[in-house]
Amino acid sequence: MPDYILGIESSCDDTSAAVLMDNVVLSNVIANQQVHKDFGGVVPELASRAHQQNIIPVIDKALKIANISKSSLSAIAFTRGPGLLGSLLVGTSFAKSFSLGLNIPLIEVNHLKAHILAHFVVQPGKEKVLPEFPFLCLTVSGGHTQIVKVKGYNEMQIIGQTIDDAAGEAFDKSAKILGLEYPGGPMIDKYARDGNPDAFAFAKTNIPGLDFSFSGLKTSILYFLRDRLKEDPMFMQNNLADLCASIQSAIVNTLMIKLKLASKQTGITEIAIAGGVSANSRLRTAISDMHESAGWKVHIPEFQFTTDNAAMIAVAGYFKFLEGSFAEQNVTPYSRGGI
Ligand code: KG4
Ligand code: ZN
Repeated sequence: MPDYILGIESSCDDTSAAVLMDNVVLSNVIANQQVHKDFGGVVPELASRAHQQNIIPVIDKALKIANISKSSLSAIAFTRGPGLLGSLLVGTSFAKSFSLGLNIPLIEVNHLKAHILAHFVVQPGKEKVLPEFPFLCLTVSGGHTQIVKVKGYNEMQIIGQTIDDAAGEAFDKSAKILGLEYPGGPMIDKYARDGNPDAFAFAKTNIPGLDFSFSGLKTSILYFLRDRLKEDPMFMQNNLADLCASIQSAIVNTLMIKLKLASKQTGITEIAIAGGVSANSRLRTAISDMHESAGWKVHIPEFQFTTDNAAMIAVAGYFKFLEGSFAEQNVTPYSRGGI
């Protein structure tokens, strides 16, 4: 008999629900919150309210698409953290009540582990090469940038991380400076396609070891533009593609330098990328190229599993379900914390 796991994700500005049959995804519904667009970033209070509005319809739709009734569910997995507390509370409270009502186990999931375990989600009828342990995962999202040594489904170790901004934040803040709408990462990616990545050189902070720093890049962009705009008020509009391509190149190069160093230091050549920024086209190409040039075995997630989604929460929950690792009804979300 297969197990059916309902996953619920509400850590930031996406309300998502997914149903998995073991590790096969039957549905993965994501409601993006549009309310934040006018504010240039996620407004926590608006996010909580939108989750409150979305959660029931999203779960209902996920069950309908999966074509199973709630009484067939084996367990409910939810994102416990890290994330926005008000947003997490909506998913957590719903998951608790639903599990109590259905009398099935409740499973708490770490959002960052789930981004990594998204690589183990299988789609019906589709062949997939799953990562083998141990592998390295570069997790790059709006809130985190980490290199993780993954030894097992629940055995992970952070070996490098950002000391200031996350890679997604670097994309979003740069985009904001350029007057692009939120979230800026996909916009920079889009405009960069027609630009020259070597057009402009921005100062990169290279700190020793496997840690990252992105805050210097933002300052460098600000000073660079301040000077250029004095000479030509239309500089930004006239050079948007080149600016985007150069910023994207600076961020991706920094990520690749550290990832290559991590592979060299650990001797691990099985490499995965995860998180919202793993949707970036330049990063995906740079990683794929490492297969040819350095013999890396690379794992690049499908787009639907890069940004926040509940299929990754459900699959992380599935592995905990197999271990019998369940949460109590008094479990509370956490806003900060690593893996
Ligand atoms: O994982 P995610 O959906 O949410 C967090 O857990 O943070 O990641 C969102 C981040 C945002 O910063 C967004 O700008 C970035 O992922 N992102 C991208 C791209 N698509 C999403 N950054 C660069 N290029 C993209 N194509
Ligand atoms: Zn995320």
